[in-house]
Amino acid sequence: MFSAKPYERKFFDAANADYHHDMTYLEPRLTPQTAPLAEGYPAVCIFVNDQANAEVIEQLAQGGTKLLALRSAGYNHVDLTAAEKHGIRVVRVPAYSPYAVAEHTVGLILTLNRKTHRAYARVREGNFELDGLLGFDIHGLTVGVVGTGKIGIEVARIMHGFGCRLLGYDPYPNPAASSFGLDYVELDALLGRADIITLHSPLTPETYHLINEQAIALFKPGAMLINTSRGALVDAAAAIEGLKTGQIGYLGLDVYEEESDLFFEDLSDRIIQDDVFARLLTFPNVVITGHQAFFTRNALLAIADTTLANIHDVAQTGESANEVTAAQVTKP
Ligand code: NAI
Repeated sequence: MFSAKPYERKFFDAANADYHHDMTYLEPRLTPQTAPLAEGYPAVCIFVNDQANAEVIEQLAQGGTKLLALRSAGYNHVDLTAAEKHGIRVVRVPAYSPYAVAEHTVGLILTLNRKTHRAYARVREGNFELDGLLGFDIHGLTVGVVGTGKIGIEVARIMHGFGCRLLGYDPYPNPAASSFGLDYVELDALLGRADIITLHSPLTPETYHLINEQAIALFKPGAMLINTSRGALVDAAAAIEGLKTGQIGYLGLDVYEEESDLFFEDLSDRIIQDDVFARLLTFPNVVITGHQAFFTRNALLAIADTTLANIHDVAQTGESANEVTAAQVTKP
């Protein structure tokens, strides 16, 4: 297991009592440099910022790896065509806790609105001034949900509870959406009408930089944008311009396009080299968390159990219900 953090090992060790796999935990990320560590291991387990491009897949295949078990729902970091070519099966955890990600999304919305991040710092300094902390009622606002799958639909359900109007955009509408009064519209209409836009679609060639300069120009001035999906859905440089002009009024990110060099590590005594990220940190109306939306004990338990079950299924039967193939991606 690459990128194995102590907090995950606890859950994997506990879940493994039912499966009895022989596990080796490795701290480094999977990269072309670390791939040789996997030599002789039939199954390799990776997370979202591990690299599984064609070069790494070829190295793994040469080392005898037959199965790549993802501890994530997203699989945009895996070259599925290369995996198929080298006879490496890929399994994932399609759903572990949509609630974890949806609730964190709503947490970002509330933080940005009521400026809890600023209030926290002020109160600790003995500053009880309210100026600069003015928020707004979320009740009655229009929330645009881009991608109404397992997570998006949970966000819709929660925001329906807040008394919001809901708009959705998804090439494959979710029948559950009608119970929240969610209206499906075209993407441009959603971007132009929503007060809060929240992204929950996977990263694909179609969604890469879905929120770019042109899309931001369509926003209601001062709209709130939340991304807890994948960083590359948003063109961060365009978002910075949008923040500078006020076209984006609030930005909440749990993911960032270049996050693999930053997230999941303690870099507090280093100089951040990514100037785009550093600029984002300077805005008072930007809140960034380091890909933690999934991070609840419920989710870690489910990730460990499903991952070990996926490996067990492939070892025992040659199949897994959670296999992902290049063909599936082109035909969702
Ligand atoms: P899902 O597969 O249930 O839903 C994704 C939805 O996006 C589907 O309804 C699909 O039709 C839709 N979609 C596909 N192409 C689209 C497009 N071009 N425009 C708009 N919608 C499109 O996936 P789920 O479980 O809801 O997860 C969504 C994403 O959230 C994942 O792909 C992953 O990238 C991200 N995620 C982030 C986590 C975090 O910790 N920040 C944790 C888990 C997932």
